[in-house]
Amino acid sequence: MTFRAKHLLGIEHLSSEDIKTLLDLAAHYVDLNRRDIKHNDALAGLTQVNMFFENSTRTQASFELAGKRLGADVMNMAMQASSIKKGETLIDTALTLNAMHPDLLVVRHPQSGAVNLLAEKVNCAVLNAGDGRHEHPTQALLDALTIQRAKGRLHRLSIAICGDIAHSRVARSNIFLLGKMENRVRLVGPPTLMPAGVADWGVEVYGDMAEGLRDVDVVMMLRLQRERMDGAFIPSEREYYHRFGLDAAKLKVAKDDAIVMHPGPMNRGVEIDGTLADDINRSVIQEQVEMGVAVRMAAMDLLARNLRTSRQPEGVLV
Ligand code: NCD
Repeated sequence: MTFRAKHLLGIEHLSSEDIKTLLDLAAHYVDLNRRDIKHNDALAGLTQVNMFFENSTRTQASFELAGKRLGADVMNMAMQASSIKKGETLIDTALTLNAMHPDLLVVRHPQSGAVNLLAEKVNCAVLNAGDGRHEHPTQALLDALTIQRAKGRLHRLSIAICGDIAHSRVARSNIFLLGKMENRVRLVGPPTLMPAGVADWGVEVYGDMAEGLRDVDVVMMLRLQRERMDGAFIPSEREYYHRFGLDAAKLKVAKDDAIVMHPGPMNRGVEIDGTLADDINRSVIQEQVEMGVAVRMAAMDLLARNLRTSRQPEGVLV
């Protein structure tokens, strides 16, 4: 087993071996999650705190379920209504929490880099559940597991990531991961939604769905992330759907067995046609949600093992 990291802050600094270790263990947890008794004690006795400074439904629920299935004591902090609103800084909140001896801290924050900063201040393992437009490592891992299971491999695939790339941490983490596993990544979207410096990312860039989707194995759609936009990036949603929204007609140029993905929450009729999103022969969106719980169980299990190893010298109580 190669995974030696203390935190899971992003995909950028993981090796392909780390990624394989995480995905192999996650596959084992997919099986556990399909049983009647979905429980083991990998995190028994440990405390997991979820701090979500941004709204989240599926990611927070997924981390909570993952921790509970592994026997951790899980606490969700209501950060929207917290002392942050009273002016406390992120670091003060972190230090207060740290004094309560959590073992695993799951953090989502609207600012890129905030989770890395927090990880420097606490004694526990930190998992990034999405920071600004920077990284969302468990999303890329669950996407990878979904692709691997649908396609039978995770290398030498052609994958189109489409839509609002500029504001997307999902796109960034996926580009790192899919590149490390030797896939061809294409980015498809209007120039206004392409990040600066994209030419250096080792990807192919397309401004047109008919060209960008030609012969791809995987089509990954992204939401228009208006909460991160500070101006008009598209003329109108109607125009955007017409040019970049995925429907059965646009999908025709992809491979016959191409799969359709979306991290959620999706806006039907804006970036994806609702009927296509529900088509179980093409869409793996529900599988992504299922893989999410397993990937988070694997990530927390591996970090907890490393945490225990690092604590061992003074950790023996007599
Ligand atoms: C993504 C996120 O929060 O970055 N969603 C998620 O984690 N399920 C994508 C998005 O919000 O569009």
